[in-house]
Amino acid sequence: MKAEQGLRVGVVGCGYWGSKHVRTLLSLEAVSRVCVIDPSDERRSAVTRVYPRVDEYRTLSDALGQLDAVVIAVPPTLHAPLALEAIGRGVHVLVEKPLAPTVKEGQAMVRAAENKGVTLMVGHTFEYHSAVWELRSMVQRGDLGDLYYLDTARLNLGLYQRDVNVVFDLAPHDISILNYVLGSSPSMVECWGARNAHPRLEDVAQLRLYYDDPGVFANVHVSWLNPKKVREVTVVGSNKMVVFDDLKAEQRVKVHDKGVTAMTDGADLTAIPMSYRHGDIVSPYLAMNEPLRVEDEHFLNCVQTGLRPLTDGQSGVEVVQVLEAAQRAMHEGVAVRLPGRTRDFAPVPSLDEARPTGSAVTPVLSEAVQEEFAG
Ligand SMILES: NC(=O)c1ccc[n+]([C@@H]2O[C@H](COP(=O)([O-])OP(=O)(O)OC[C@H]3O[C@@H](n4cnc5c(N)ncnc54)[C@H](O)[C@@H]3O)[C@@H](O)[C@H]2O)c1
Repeated sequence: MKAEQGLRVGVVGCGYWGSKHVRTLLSLEAVSRVCVIDPSDERRSAVTRVYPRVDEYRTLSDALGQLDAVVIAVPPTLHAPLALEAIGRGVHVLVEKPLAPTVKEGQAMVRAAENKGVTLMVGHTFEYHSAVWELRSMVQRGDLGDLYYLDTARLNLGLYQRDVNVVFDLAPHDISILNYVLGSSPSMVECWGARNAHPRLEDVAQLRLYYDDPGVFANVHVSWLNPKKVREVTVVGSNKMVVFDDLKAEQRVKVHDKGVTAMTDGADLTAIPMSYRHGDIVSPYLAMNEPLRVEDEHFLNCVQTGLRPLTDGQSGVEVVQVLEAAQRAMHEGVAVRLPGRTRDFAPVPSLDEARPTGSAVTPVLSEAVQEEFAG
């Protein structure tokens, strides 16, 4: 395929999320042709009605000969077989989160892509979100002081999945955010979860992840069974505290110049225990890029240049390791140890333009697009 011809990209699974990839890919210059692959006539025609220049296929095998790259957005238990089929035919692959339902399948995908020399990327969309870039910069620069803990909440009366529980559905977002912001992966995982409204799949869960580097813990609360929609990440440090609220239309990141200091060693019960500091609340500038568009653009750039994606197959496996550990911790009531790894974040040139800077001219997203991403 010559670069000037543009890439032929297939979207495998055109349900809720796949149809957003179709919209995004159609708007990208690097793409010459988009097709949808889905056994459901209804799902395909829902997309082709809106985008008539999109071709359609019922199966991946029928389409593969016509494609340079695919985006796989099917239920998670189908990720590995479909990705391996595409990789086997020398086609580049972006797989939605979670990379796979098991570490074994994820590792097989990474090996297969390496052997074939094709790009394998995982759709950890929040690593392409300017608010998460800002959180990472603040943590890595030490703006918050010593890190005390992190807390994430992803709650809603959510869409129950058919094949995976709430941990595998929602926690990949938070684990990828935490790994990215902290620059490492956890060394121990605890998890509690419960099946309430569904007979087989946990619909509420709480994970606790321990990171050795830096020594800090994070709580992750995920739920499909909550009356209130919440999408928050909180980072608490000794100097400052930050809240990223993804449901806010503006000022999504707020830095609170607040803190507490212990006044006694706790032995004197008559002494005032803590002194409190209340300062300004500042909301940093964030580029209004649509994360899914940044992600898809980055994927195509990696396909064209051979660059390793920011969210490569290995980072996908690291998230699945945590998910698998959480599943075991939840079912066996034990804390599960993991290798823990400091991630090497090489600069990613193709993302530099998208990253927020004080002077960037940025397109403002329509409310409809913001609402879509808030999912
Ligand atoms: N990155 C994100 O923010 C984000 C958000 C939502 C969903 N997702 C991920 O996207 C994936 C899809 O989720 P969804 O909510 O769109 O699910 P969905 O049920 O709405 O859509 C899945 C589609 O896959 C199709 N499908 C099933 N078997 C297929 C096959 N063999 N070949 C081709 N198509 C097939 C179904 O007909 C359906 O249209 C999941 O992995 C999910 O975790 C990611």
